[in-house]
Amino acid sequence: MSETSPKLRAELEGIPTYKPGKPAAAGGPVAYKLSSNENPYPPLPGVMESVTAAASNFNRYPDMACAGLMNELSERFGVPLSHLATGTGSVGVAQQLIQATSGPGDEVIYAWRSFEAYPIITQISGARAVQVPLTPGDVHDLDAMADAITDRTRLIFVCNPNNPTGTVVRRAELERFLDRVPGDVLVVLDEAYREFIRDPEVPDGVELYRKRPNVCVLRTFSKAYGLAGLRVGFAIGHEPVAAALRKTAVPFGVSQLAQEAAIASLRAEDELMGRVGSLVCERKRVVDALRALGWTVPETQANFVWLRLGERTVAFAAACEEHGVVVRPFPGEGVRVTIGETEANDIFLKVAEGFRKEL
Ligand SMILES: Cc1ncc(COP(=O)(O)O)c(C=O)c1O
Repeated sequence: MSETSPKLRAELEGIPTYKPGKPAAAGGPVAYKLSSNENPYPPLPGVMESVTAAASNFNRYPDMACAGLMNELSERFGVPLSHLATGTGSVGVAQQLIQATSGPGDEVIYAWRSFEAYPIITQISGARAVQVPLTPGDVHDLDAMADAITDRTRLIFVCNPNNPTGTVVRRAELERFLDRVPGDVLVVLDEAYREFIRDPEVPDGVELYRKRPNVCVLRTFSKAYGLAGLRVGFAIGHEPVAAALRKTAVPFGVSQLAQEAAIASLRAEDELMGRVGSLVCERKRVVDALRALGWTVPETQANFVWLRLGERTVAFAAACEEHGVVVRPFPGEGVRVTIGETEANDIFLKVAEGFRKEL
């Protein structure tokens, strides 16, 4: 065998691997997964039927243009088809946006800590990641992010609500920030958790995009819509951006199953939003209970809560697991806990109560 191996791009060295939320352990008395911000509900009945019908055709390639879904989205959001692009989850679309804008020598700005895919997809492109620390209250520091813009900046992510802290930026500060960003820098408003927002001061990115050609909104069917396993997300942006997304798409990336499920979910939206409403009530119950126990919990507008546990993060996650819930630790920083089934949330609260007593 030859001693040499294929030459790989130097940029790939040291890329952090994406850590998926750990699955719930099989075989235990209870096992709940609160580690990936998924929706705990089973698919809506119409969704199962659509997917089952599509399944009988998967010897065929899917509709590459995602025409049915695109039409549905165009109507739903009141945007032209030429302003829409779909992809393999919103993380797939985010990667396409970087590919379309940034390469070696360019800079991509995002808050930190934020969605863990940002450093990975930035580094793959060869662009330099500029990480701007969150404020002490775990919120995007938009002034510092605007100050970080240089003539090499090509793309800025604003994750609203932010993963993993759940915190939001509000209308006035976001508009002020957008006013400071040069028109040739793309701002990506990552709204993966948009449906869980109840604060009226948090702007809908789709409204902001309408007046700003350099703003693009990312949405997903993985969270509120409960289709994480089917991989479909989309972007709403002006024509040159949406066209660039079509150029950078993996051909046939979004399966027909995913397309049909997304359409059926949009059509079952009333019921779906009822479920989201229940999760939002659960979120309030969990946050109130944690605060009553003495925990400091940042205001969350997403389907998860953030506990800044520092050095005790790993021990807390282990204690949760012992009791039957899997949470998402960020060692040395904190744990992110998805709002899930009531029983799962109760277990998490019990562990949080026990931990509090040990302090
Ligand atoms: C902020 C944010 N953006 C995007 C995604 C990607 O979701 P998907 O690729 O499943 O659409 C996630 C998933 O965790 C997320 O938290």
